Amino acid sequence: MAVMIPYTSSLIYLLSLMVLLFSPFGCCSDSDPLQDFCVADLNGTLSINGFPCKPISKVRSSDFFFDGFTKEGNTSNGVGSAVTSGNVLAFPGVNTLGISMNRVDYAPGGVNPPHIHPRASETGVIMQGEVLVGFITTENVYHSKVLKFGEMFVIPRGLAHFQMNVGKGKAMVITAFNSQLPGTTILPLALFASNPPLPIKVLTRTFQVEEKIINDIKSKFIF
Ligand SMILES: *[C@@H]1O[C@H](CO)[C@@H](O)[C@H](O)[C@H]1NC(C)=O
Ligand SMILES: *[C@@H]1O[C@H](CO)[C@@H](O)[C@H](O)[C@H]1NC(C)=O
Repeated sequence: MAVMIPYTSSLIYLLSLMVLLFSPFGCCSDSDPLQDFCVADLNGTLSINGFPCKPISKVRSSDFFFDGFTKEGNTSNGVGSAVTSGNVLAFPGVNTLGISMNRVDYAPGGVNPPHIHPRASETGVIMQGEVLVGFITTENVYHSKVLKFGEMFVIPRGLAHFQMNVGKGKAMVITAFNSQLPGTTILPLALFASNPPLPIKVLTRTFQVEEKIINDIKSKFIF
């Protein structure tokens, strides 16, 4: 782990640069800022597209730094993975800048279950371990590859994707998004753990199975 730190910072730097570089070419990242920065005032009561800015007089250097990725996430859960978000809610300095990052930790065999980011494309680089990364196109074509340290992937915006630790030890991935708040629809939770729940007949008819099977799946997703 100690050896990894310089690589981690330079890769994070490269990744951030890349996000900045590809943003102007896309039509679909967050809208452009109209000022140097707008550190989010998460307590603001105004309802706008994003978050209102903290008064400049209250902005500190610390608003532009984030140490949330220094700690390993707790992967002791059913799926064996943990996402630490560096989006605007955790890191208000990225407000209006159209970028954010996540750290994802995986126990051996752990999976970051199939999910969608409605507002961002995603890039990621493997920092530790061996990770199977896959996504499915809207025509149900499955693209995938097993990646190792330093290797990178991209998930086009809005497509369903997952990562799974297929190595022997732990794995860790740093991801980057062209949105300050990419949003995440975790498919199994959307279907089986919504609040309030979907009508059971929608699920039995959709999957063409008995109610018992649906209830069995639901019982795994109690949070
Ligand atoms: C929001 O409110 C909390 C609690 O009152 C305070 O600790 C925090 O600094 C406030 N955040 C901002 C950005 O003003
Ligand atoms: C990790 O999460 C599990 C399950 O919630 C909990 O029992 C355990 O104490 C947590 N470990 C740490 C180090 O926080």
